Amino acid sequence: MKFDTKVVHAGIRPDPTTGSIVPPIYQTATYVLDEVGRDRGFDYTRSSNPTRQVLEENLAALDSGRYGVMFGSGMAAVDAALKLLGAGDHVVCSDDVYGGVSRHFNNVLANHGLAFTYVDSARPETVRQAIRPETKMLWVETPSNPLLKITDVEAMSVIAKEAGIYLAVDSTFATPVYLRPLELGADIVMHSTTKYLSGHNQIIGGVLVTDREDLFDRFKFIQKTIGAVPGPFDCWLTLLGVKTLHLRMPRHSENAQAVAEFLEGHDKVERVTYPGLASHPRHALASAQMSGFSGMMTFELKGGVEAGRAVMNAVELAGLAESLGAVETMITHPATMTHVDVPIEERRARGLTDGLVRLSVGIEDVDDIIADLEQALAKA
Ligand SMILES: Cc1ncc(COP(=O)(O)O)c(C=O)c1O
Repeated sequence: MKFDTKVVHAGIRPDPTTGSIVPPIYQTATYVLDEVGRDRGFDYTRSSNPTRQVLEENLAALDSGRYGVMFGSGMAAVDAALKLLGAGDHVVCSDDVYGGVSRHFNNVLANHGLAFTYVDSARPETVRQAIRPETKMLWVETPSNPLLKITDVEAMSVIAKEAGIYLAVDSTFATPVYLRPLELGADIVMHSTTKYLSGHNQIIGGVLVTDREDLFDRFKFIQKTIGAVPGPFDCWLTLLGVKTLHLRMPRHSENAQAVAEFLEGHDKVERVTYPGLASHPRHALASAQMSGFSGMMTFELKGGVEAGRAVMNAVELAGLAESLGAVETMITHPATMTHVDVPIEERRARGLTDGLVRLSVGIEDVDDIIADLEQALAKA
């Protein structure tokens, strides 16, 4: 099955009782057994649920994995992946990751005996040097949030295999339409399904995809034991969203390319970071590794933080909102919103300045998106 067909059909079969073409919402906590010791494949929804299972199979297929395991948020999926490790273990992590991920690593998991080293994963040698005997995982986010750093997943996989450690890739920004890390040697792919996969700002969710049976068994065990599971209705809404993923992503990318070029040519804009621009330091790698550049970018205005604030307050079409990856264009101030819990010194060291504006370009008519930014920039 080709990718676009998998998006629509993978894991989805007509409902066995009614023939319903859309998988039903099995909104149930439990299932009546036929007799003691004999169920019909389901016993309790924390462990498994038919609607959730369809979504898990669908998302696994999109990332070329055999197994998908759903969680109630992207962060719950990150947490489950890290639960492969234990006290005393060490993780090498991309230095530019979603602020909620580093908050979890530094303020929760560090209290449970895990240690983290943040490195520029765009530089494979730096990653290799950071690995210690107790390192068990390499956690990579590409393109990264919010600085759109691009990491070479194949190079990371060589390093991880040499060291005998897990390679986990947060591929939320790229989606399986543009990047399939398992095909490049990763052990685990993680997505916040809140973003492009569901695509319509309708749910919070996360998924882990793997081709390794040992990891799947562990993730299923963690899922059922801890219970950070999405409800059946959220899984159903996600399934509806996924069905147009392959149609939405090219539109996000085309719109973002046009918006990035508009911003780059604007005299009030100091710098635009978008992997699809030739000015992006890893444009060549992004072009080779990904089949499209997705809809996320950041930019900085010449007037710094005050100018950025003026633009964010002046947009009318774009929503000033925390999230990304949905049909609506959204604008965010990472320093006070998504990355507020990254300590200020660390933000500065990462290049995550107070004037940075993040834009999630939607699928509206691009002329309207640009017109909105133009009128907002005029007020900066
Ligand atoms: C790259 C990335 N990873 C993980 C997450 C966490 O996902 P969620 O908000 O669904 O918990 C986010 C959320 O913004 C994200 O942008």
